[in-house]
Amino acid sequence: MKKKNIINELFNVEDKIAIITGGGSGIGKIITEVLAFSGSKVYITSRKLEVIEKASIEINAKKPRHKVEYFCSDLSSEVGIEKLVKHFEKKEEHLDILINNSGISWGAPLGKFPYHAWDKVMTVNVTGLFHLTQSLLPKLASKATLAYPSRIINIGSVMGTAALADGPYSYSASKAAVHQITRILAKELARQKITVNALAPGPFLSRMTEFAVGNKEKERKVSKNVPIGRIGNPNDIKSSILFLCGPGGSYVTGAILPLDGGIHVATGPEIFE
Ligand SMILES: NC(=O)c1ccc[n+]([C@@H]2O[C@H](COP(=O)([O-])OP(=O)(O)OC[C@H]3O[C@@H](n4cnc5c(N)ncnc54)[C@H](OP(=O)(O)O)[C@@H]3O)[C@@H](O)[C@H]2O)c1
Repeated sequence: MKKKNIINELFNVEDKIAIITGGGSGIGKIITEVLAFSGSKVYITSRKLEVIEKASIEINAKKPRHKVEYFCSDLSSEVGIEKLVKHFEKKEEHLDILINNSGISWGAPLGKFPYHAWDKVMTVNVTGLFHLTQSLLPKLASKATLAYPSRIINIGSVMGTAALADGPYSYSASKAAVHQITRILAKELARQKITVNALAPGPFLSRMTEFAVGNKEKERKVSKNVPIGRIGNPNDIKSSILFLCGPGGSYVTGAILPLDGGIHVATGPEIFE
């Protein structure tokens, strides 16, 4: 078989319809780029109009097969989620790929973690993700087939897998919840031909992590704590997305894919050194 045919057979996402929450910045924007430039029709959504508009203009200038479309939404309320779903329903009959990427964090030392910061993080990262997914299930199920099951990809975190917090306590707990929701929904939705997987990234440069890896010195310091010796780069995200969204990924469901350079398997110094 020719190389191009194999790649097409395994990773082709042409003409798939996708929603990416938080698709205008950071990891979400990387996912928008890889799906749009691979031929999917992508809708991006988040609170800040200027961010999603700018990302769409930038990507559309490079002439993807389908223009990226954007609309504002706030996943921290039921009304905001309903607005998003209604907007999408007017645009498309079905949905092939849902990327639940929007997320927020809050860091404070143990003993000083504010009460309200717990719910704030949980509301977006867990409640919003679950309710948006639930509301979009009819669209995801409507055209799903054995040959091409619809896909849900949740963006979790290594902090939801390893016992790591270092300040963002509600964030780590919220990402552990995202991983568990992923497994539960994978089990329940398999019969409807919908796969549900999560990425569990380690450190990647974004608005959220700029404080920690936003310059070379900080990046070097963080990289020292990553077994593989570097922070993540856009291709690490892109290849995982094409694998999980392409035909070749259609038998994978319930996976929490570690994208963390080995952090989740690092257990500290050898005991019998
Ligand atoms: N960067 C990392 O190292 C890393 C590691 C592990 C996991 N993650 C996860 O990756 C995802 C993306 O984060 P990022 O690092 O790329 O940071 P980011 O650029 O800050 O992305 C977060 C996105 O969430 C959106 N968002 C926040 N609140 C929202 C709300 N109420 N409604 C709708 N959208 C909302 C933001 O857009 P608006 O502000 O416009 O609403 C933004 O696009 C998050 O789930 C994060 O937890 C990141």
